[in-house]
Amino acid sequence: MEKTKLHIYIKPTQISRRIKQLANKINKDYENKVPIFIGVLNGAFIFMSDLIREIKVNCEIDFLKLSSYGDSKISSGQVKTLKELNCDLKGRDVIIVEDIIDSGLSMDFIIKTIKKQKPSSVKIASLLIKKDVPKFNFKIDYLGFEIENKFVVGYGLDFAQKYRNLKGIYVL
Ligand code: IMP
Ligand code: MG
Repeated sequence: MEKTKLHIYIKPTQISRRIKQLANKINKDYENKVPIFIGVLNGAFIFMSDLIREIKVNCEIDFLKLSSYGDSKISSGQVKTLKELNCDLKGRDVIIVEDIIDSGLSMDFIIKTIKKQKPSSVKIASLLIKKDVPKFNFKIDYLGFEIENKFVVGYGLDFAQKYRNLKGIYVL
């Protein structure tokens, strides 16, 4: 891979410690329930796989895919579905699993899409959220880390599709 300067921002050990804490909370909140985790591709695939392996209650998973930033660091402001859900969410307890929330546009779109199916509850797990972003009309129930307003890569997050394979989170 081409050598670009990457600065470590969150170490793998910090990530796994935090994910265990989030999973403990989910395990308590969903005792006697069967939540369905909806991962947002591509970015959330590693967070999703690490998170659900700490889940002790019966659960299911599915994925949806949205249009990405392309090769840009800035959102196009338009969200489109590239892969739809293949599950019935009516009456289900849904947990949306996202890698990072920046402008909040994607999450807003996902919540609206999911609520059309009339689930009985919808909660949000996001590994990262950027500071100083506009106020959202949703709350993040399970948040990993609040980070500075910088573009980060690794642990599933990409820049122009690269760096998803890194174990830690880096500032580009
Ligand atoms: P939002 O719609 O602006 O909240 O952006 C959410 C999506 O943009 C995330 O799911 C990521 O895929 C991508 N994204 C936002 N910020 C970053 C970043 O710093 N690094 C990598 N991807 C990002
Ligand atoms: Mg994403």
